[in-house]
Order: sequence, then C-alpha cells, then structure tokens
Amino acid sequence: MKKITIIGTGYVGLVTGAGLSEFGNRVICTDIDKNKIEKLNSGIIPIYEPGLEEIIKRNISDNRLLFSSNIEDAIMQSEVVIIAVGTPMGANGATDMSFVHSAVETISINLNSYKVVCTKSTVPIGTGKEIISQISKKVKNNNLFDYVSNPEFLREGSAVKDFLWPDRVVIGTDNQNAYQIMCDIYRPLYINKNPMTQTSIETAEMIKYASNSFLALKISYINEIANLCEALGADVHDVANAMGQDGRISEKFLHPGPGFGGSCFPKDLEALLYISKNKSLSMETVNAAIIVNKNQKKRMANKLINLFDGNINNRKIAVLGLAFKANTDDVRESPAIDIIKGILGNGGIVNAYDPIANNEMSKIFHDIEYFDNIYDSVKNVDGIVIITEWNEFRSLDLQKIKKIMKGNIILDTRNILDMDELSSLGFVYDNIGRIKK
Ligand code: UDX
Repeated sequence: MKKITIIGTGYVGLVTGAGLSEFGNRVICTDIDKNKIEKLNSGIIPIYEPGLEEIIKRNISDNRLLFSSNIEDAIMQSEVVIIAVGTPMGANGATDMSFVHSAVETISINLNSYKVVCTKSTVPIGTGKEIISQISKKVKNNNLFDYVSNPEFLREGSAVKDFLWPDRVVIGTDNQNAYQIMCDIYRPLYINKNPMTQTSIETAEMIKYASNSFLALKISYINEIANLCEALGADVHDVANAMGQDGRISEKFLHPGPGFGGSCFPKDLEALLYISKNKSLSMETVNAAIIVNKNQKKRMANKLINLFDGNINNRKIAVLGLAFKANTDDVRESPAIDIIKGILGNGGIVNAYDPIANNEMSKIFHDIEYFDNIYDSVKNVDGIVIITEWNEFRSLDLQKIKKIMKGNIILDTRNILDMDELSSLGFVYDNIGRIKK
C-alpha cells in the first residue's frame, strides 16, 4: 500500500481518495478551497453521491483518509500524487488547463523524493507529455518522478460503485516501476479478476475520450431512431431491446430520452472536436452526436407545446426532475434547463420539483416556484413534463395526480409511465418513440 496525495476534491478527487483509502492506502485529499476542506474535516460532504459519506467516514476513523489545504506538505509526504482538478470547457471547446498547470507547478517544487505523478482529470490527448516537460524544466534530476495517466470512468450517481468495481483500470505509462506502483494502489481489485490495462500515455488519454464520445453517440443514435419510430409507428423500446440482444451492440446506453447532460459528455465531445480540428481532422460522428443532442433537448419543448395545440401561454406546467440524471443533484447541461427555458419563452409558468436538485437549479432559475413535494408541485397545473428518471416518478399515484391537477396533459421524456394507465385515466400524453396505447 502507498501514501497518496489527491489534488482536487471534486467528484473525481473525492471519490478517488475515498476509494483508494478503502483499498488500504493512506490518502490525503487536498484542495485550495480551505472552506471545502474544513467542511470535509467536519464530516460535511459537498457532493451528493450514494455511499460516499459512509466510505469517507469509515476511512477517516481508520486513519487512512484525511483532508488538508496544505498541498505542499501532503505532496512531500506522498509516494503517489494524483491530479484530480477540474478541466472545464473553455472558449470554442478548448479545455481550460489552468488548474492542471497550477497543480503541476506545485508538484514540481515539492518533489523532495521519488514520486509517481498521475493525472486522473480528463485532459486533452498529449497533456501527459506536456506535464513531463513542465516538471522536467523545474527539477534538475528526472529520476525524481515518473508520469502516468489514469483516466476515470465514474458515472455521477454511481461513482463509488464504479470506482470500487471498475470494468477496467487504464494505466498509461511506459515505465514498469511506475506501472507496478499503480498496480499496488489498486491491488484489492485484481486479487480475483485483473482489470488493470497498461497502455502508452496518449493511448490512455484517448481511451477516455473515445469511450465517452461513443457512449454519447449511442444515446444520440437511439434518440434519432426514437424520433423516426414516432413518425413511422414503430416502438423504440422493442427496437432497442432487440438491438441490445446482439452482444456486439449491448442494451446499455440505448435508452431514448430528452438528450444527455452532465459535466462530462458535453464537455468531452466538444474537447475531442477541438483536438481533432487542431490536427485538421474532422470527427463527423462526434459532431453529429452533439448536434442531435442539442436538437433533442429543444424537441422536448416543441412536443409539450404540441400537446397544447401550439399555445402554452399562461399555462402552468410542473417540471418533474431537474437533475441531468437520477441519483445526483447535478443540473449541469440538464435537459430540464432547456424545457424550462422553452416553457418560460412561450409564456408558460413553471412549477419545479426534484428530490434533491431544487437548490442547484434555483441558482440558474430564480423566478420559478420550487416545491419539496411532488403532489404540491402538480396541484392545479395544466400539464406535467417528466425530465429525470427518478424512481419516485416511476411509482407516481397517477389517479391522485389526475384529481389534483387542472389539466390532463403529461409529457414523459423518459418513457417511465405506463401508457395503459395513462390512457385509462384520461390523460393526453406523449413520450419518446413509443406506439401509443
Ligand atoms: C459519463 C460516463 O458514463 C462516465 O463513464 C464518465 O466517467 C463521465 O461521464 P455521467 O455523465 O455521470 O457519466 O452519467 P451517465 O450515466 O453516463 O449519463 C450521461 C447522460 O446520458 C445523462 O444525461 C443520462 O440521462 C443520459 N443517458 C444515459 C441517456 O439519455 N440514455 C442512456 O441510455 C444513458
């Protein structure tokens, strides 16, 4: 087991630090945000991630995990330093690397002994080589570090599970000593099945973008198929099920919806486009996934307006679900943003409800009403639109809802409501790519 410093305590840094301490390593999670560190040391976890609080508390009490804003001291104590800072999208799709470069600078001046320097943040292909030269310029003795790329494949809402039981762990390095050290920190993972994969640095960086953009492409593809199903009277659920039975396709990420959101897919696809353009290469598939996704989000508002025969002026609509997906409070790039804009832009009024994302969305839309109870949010509304596939929406008491709402219109953008029930209760409804009952 090793002594590890994680630089950056966002989604990736926090889950990685907690996970590696769970594997028996001694981990110091660091951040420049002293307030965030103080909260973490007092047991307040700044993000909602199922299972994270418990794993953090357990490893703090076992003295394997601690939080500090003294990044320099943490680096000097550690054998492995993992960069997990944010790499937000900058102008025209370029990645803002300022946090990464700042972390590398801090590492460079605190290499008091040999360390493995590892990047877990999603960074443009070629960054590893840049980091190696940035550090080499600072330190006289190049034997003081080796560099590895170790991209993350964590989904929000299941990040702890994805870390503790990964499909694969990609280690990009050509140095066997560094590779062995990385295998050591992940040792509990390959006691039975070995998910460790060694590649070159650039290959590891590419695997991250290639994986995310393919998953996003799958979603945009099934969304276009769903739209065509609607026009042709086919059922996208049956299409996706039969497609998924082909092992080469798999049924995963073939669920049609309002479009993908989150902090990764949109950013990573734009970054990949930007990287390819810099090499005068086009990525038509990635570009198509982005365009289709933008159109799909806009399409939801049009579907809703069509249900009101083209006019939602002064209509009150309950938007159920604000997070970009279930089991997270993250609203970044959420399709809920587009549907709220569409409703407000066409003179409608919005009642908003999400089990945990109300507060995050209120930072974007201040002048809509938020409810902490689903049934209060639908009282006397003309229509309902479901945007996030929260489990509580799958078990809605539709009979009760029909009684308390004023109108009878429902747009189910996640295909989670039973169409027989909707019809029998007299709802006028729409969804994505289904043959209506
Ligand atoms: C994604 C990748 O899955 C993960 O491997 C990477 O490390 C980070 O980006 P995340 O964005 O957290 O994870 O969530 P994910 O579950 O991938 O969903 C992304 C978006 O796609 C969500 O808006 C979700 O609603 C949507 N989605 C997903 C679909 O519309 N249909 C699907 O079948 C799956």
